[in-house]
Amino acid sequence: MGVNLYNRHFLKDLDFSTQELEYLLDTAHALKAMKKAGTPHRYLEGKNIVLLFQKTSTRTRCAFEVGGMDLGMGVTYLDPSGSQMGKKESIADTAQVLSRFYDGIEFRGFAQEDVECLAENSSVPVWNGLTTEWHPTQMIADIMTVQEHFGHDNIKGKTLVFMGDAKNNVARSLMVVCAKMGMNFVACGPASCMPSDDVVEASLPIAQANGCTITLTEDVAAACTGADVIYTDVWVSMGEPEEVWAERIATLQPYRVTPQVMDMCAPGAIFLHCLPAFHDTKTTIGADIAKKFGITEMEVSDQVFSAPYSKVFDQAENRMHSIKAIMYCTLSETNQVI
Ligand code: CP
Ligand code: NVA
Repeated sequence: MGVNLYNRHFLKDLDFSTQELEYLLDTAHALKAMKKAGTPHRYLEGKNIVLLFQKTSTRTRCAFEVGGMDLGMGVTYLDPSGSQMGKKESIADTAQVLSRFYDGIEFRGFAQEDVECLAENSSVPVWNGLTTEWHPTQMIADIMTVQEHFGHDNIKGKTLVFMGDAKNNVARSLMVVCAKMGMNFVACGPASCMPSDDVVEASLPIAQANGCTITLTEDVAAACTGADVIYTDVWVSMGEPEEVWAERIATLQPYRVTPQVMDMCAPGAIFLHCLPAFHDTKTTIGADIAKKFGITEMEVSDQVFSAPYSKVFDQAENRMHSIKAIMYCTLSETNQVI
């Protein structure tokens, strides 16, 4: 395939070409098949990685841990209070220290510039496990899931609609990656939740070059009629102040993914969500919101979340296979899997 990602950082989707994304996707599918077949793939035995989390996580952390261990690596997890970084030691100094111990560094935090600074000062690959601006590892799992459903070579020309807070990290990354993969991307939400101009301006020429479109609309029917993938995410992201809940609930309720929304889609359409999701009141935040605002479902109705066309748990599983591929491709000089 002529692609080699050895020693590359994985910071944002814009940094990777279509061919490089396809290479990561193919490696992820191959590693998934190996795991399912019980074929050992401890290609990175003797290496060690560190996971730095300034925000909480279930999927990303576990994907790096299980993926790292399946590849034969040692894994250290540092929780939001578990390191000196930022408080007593600069990000730059931390990067230099960790590079002496580890072969790769995962970072989940607030500003994108923090992960960029970590990478600039690190001599080993740095992987962005989510910042306020981007969620690039999520994207490989998402496109992998779309390929599994529609066929590996049948995703070009499909339309993915992101419903809700379309200015958040997941929506921004999806816009870029859809453009790179030749998929039409629609951001559907209120004007106050549209992606910023910089990401739209960066994505438009990519979409044009790949024969697909980018649309921003407030109109649910216009967005979802004939769509192939409906995607949503939480209305308030990690790191945002409590106070924004009231305004988001007021403006985003028309953009909840309901069975009526799914009925507008093309036959065979699927529902995706990066998770965690507020589809009932079985969480402390969900119960609290129900008490304060009188709603029992937020970005997606429980009926959609639990329907057969909801592929959210396949998508969650694919976080592990895709993150394993990202680590493998950036830490191994040769690709022995594809
Ligand atoms: N989708 C995702 O990144 O989940 P976590 O926050 O649990 O890692
Ligand atoms: N937009 C969400 C994604 C969580 C995986 C957040 O940043 O909290």
